[in-house]
Amino acid sequence: MGTFNSEELVKEIKRRLSIIDLVENYTSIKKSGNGYIALCPFHDDSNPSMHIDEQKGLYHCFSCGAGGDIIGFYMRYNSVTFPEALTELAKKANIEIGTTQTQSPSKSKHTVLFKINSLVSKYYQAVLKKNKSTQSPGAYLEARSISDEVIDEFALGYAPEGWDNLVKFLNSKKVPLNLAEKLGLIVNKKGGDGFYDRFRNRVMFPIINIDGKVVGFGGRIIQEEEQPKYINSPESEIYKKRKNFYGLYKAREYIRREDKALLVEGYTDFLSLYSAGIKNVVATLGTSLTRDHLILLRRFTKNVVVVFDGDPAGNSAAMKSLDIFLQEGMIPYVVILPVGNDPDSFVKDVGRDKFIEMINNAPSLVDYSINRVVSGLLAGGYSLDNGLRQVVDIVQQLRDPIDRNRYIRIAAERMGVRESDMMSLIKRGKHGGKPRNPKVSQTAGSQERLLLGILLKYPELSEVVIENNAANLISAENVKLIVDAIVTNDIRDVSKLLLHFEDVKVQELISEILMSSDFITDKQSASKMLVGCLDRMRKNKYEEDLKSLRLEIDEAIRSKDVTLEKRLLEELQELIKQNNRKSGEPNEEQEGW
Ligand code: CTP
Ligand code: MN
Repeated sequence: MGTFNSEELVKEIKRRLSIIDLVENYTSIKKSGNGYIALCPFHDDSNPSMHIDEQKGLYHCFSCGAGGDIIGFYMRYNSVTFPEALTELAKKANIEIGTTQTQSPSKSKHTVLFKINSLVSKYYQAVLKKNKSTQSPGAYLEARSISDEVIDEFALGYAPEGWDNLVKFLNSKKVPLNLAEKLGLIVNKKGGDGFYDRFRNRVMFPIINIDGKVVGFGGRIIQEEEQPKYINSPESEIYKKRKNFYGLYKAREYIRREDKALLVEGYTDFLSLYSAGIKNVVATLGTSLTRDHLILLRRFTKNVVVVFDGDPAGNSAAMKSLDIFLQEGMIPYVVILPVGNDPDSFVKDVGRDKFIEMINNAPSLVDYSINRVVSGLLAGGYSLDNGLRQVVDIVQQLRDPIDRNRYIRIAAERMGVRESDMMSLIKRGKHGGKPRNPKVSQTAGSQERLLLGILLKYPELSEVVIENNAANLISAENVKLIVDAIVTNDIRDVSKLLLHFEDVKVQELISEILMSSDFITDKQSASKMLVGCLDRMRKNKYEEDLKSLRLEIDEAIRSKDVTLEKRLLEELQELIKQNNRKSGEPNEEQEGW
């Protein structure tokens, strides 16, 4: 066998391996109708909700949303990178890949990047050791009572003062500076050539991925008056913040053992808890929690206790992460610390035992939300109607019917309403029991989904989309991306399309739409559907624009802003005029009067 580029290799793997056979290695599969269904291995599935279509070569879980092709399945299940998946799947398929080409350039490149990070981490560690007894980093760590053992175990280091210590070190080791720059270790000087150190006079926290490799760094000031408090490595080819936790590499065995993970927000919170012997803990990396985080964490436990700082941001942060957990079909537990505390300070000021007690008594996020609404009701903060609505919004996102019924009962009892009233509210809820997505523009509407289905099956209809200038009718970000790839970049093969998008969410949308578009059966009717669909999208957009303009006008009237009101009214007239003109245009489908 010769050498392949990755596109050819993907094709060959798909030709030789059946997605059914692969998935069957990981979960039980049943035949159902003319397809297959399986217990989804990516969430806690009690009813088979993953559909697999051998002909399309796709899988999709209609419960948790996981989906894609055979390569994507393998990557997700085994948490491996794309090149790794290709290598391993090629082996399964008995494809001999010439080591030069597919032993993928990216893999060997990544190896170099990991090496550089590891070298730099050792350098920072050595600098800390040398400076410890004499200088400030040592004093700082001591003041925070971070022990020598923890310093060693987490390879903490120190980036010295000065602009080019690291640059010099890298040069002495003959490390290509452009690669170090890619990793964000050094920064290109403005205007001139040359580089300077990104991290200066900071305590360094190496960020280690699940395979034990250094993917990035966080650096904290040691003099409180400096700014900003933390500087972090930017994302790179080997570092994605949405997919990594601080500390998981070390904490994983404790998380597994206790079947529970504590989720905190900071490096120092992590280290404090770990030092206090609470080792089943992970921290996000200065970004918000994502579904990818949860997919990773769920490999070790389903039980996550989210610990929020006791600042006002805490409560709204809790609410935001609620959605992400529910989207993944998980119900976390929540601890909100007293105002002014984070886990680090709480353990130091109040004590470890009290902390453990709070963790063990943590309410589930649903209980927590119900409590919040109930105390709001008691304090007169909400009307019953408003409170009910809030609880319904949460409860109807629960996927597991048993959980849902249990919480309906609890909520109804605590709020003093009848269960049946609560049920009917949920049925009438405008989201119809489906997981609610707070950002409307993130969710594809039914017309957008139809459009996507048509284009995925008949990309040759792209012309119609271009003619109708339909791209700006799309408001869901992911739909826009996919339509753009098909229409503008001319990527017309599903396999290539999946390759084109690294973002699993986009891949999931593609698989979902394709798996539910069997009603689009021939090009001619697809073309008719497309015309109708675009028409409805245009109308919807018009109505939405109309509505938001009217709201703005109301607001302008209320605040007595006459100039604004006048301008908005003109806009409104223009909008109506344009719409009349467009709907007056002869429509090809309606000709022949
Ligand atoms: N963070 C960041 N950049 C900042 C501030 C915070 O990346 N300028 C991230 C860090 O990962 C930090 C986490 O957000 O650990 C939580 O921030 P914060 O609570 O402000 O810091 P602490 O972790 O409490 O740090 P410390 O106790 O050292 O002040
Ligand atoms: Mn802190």
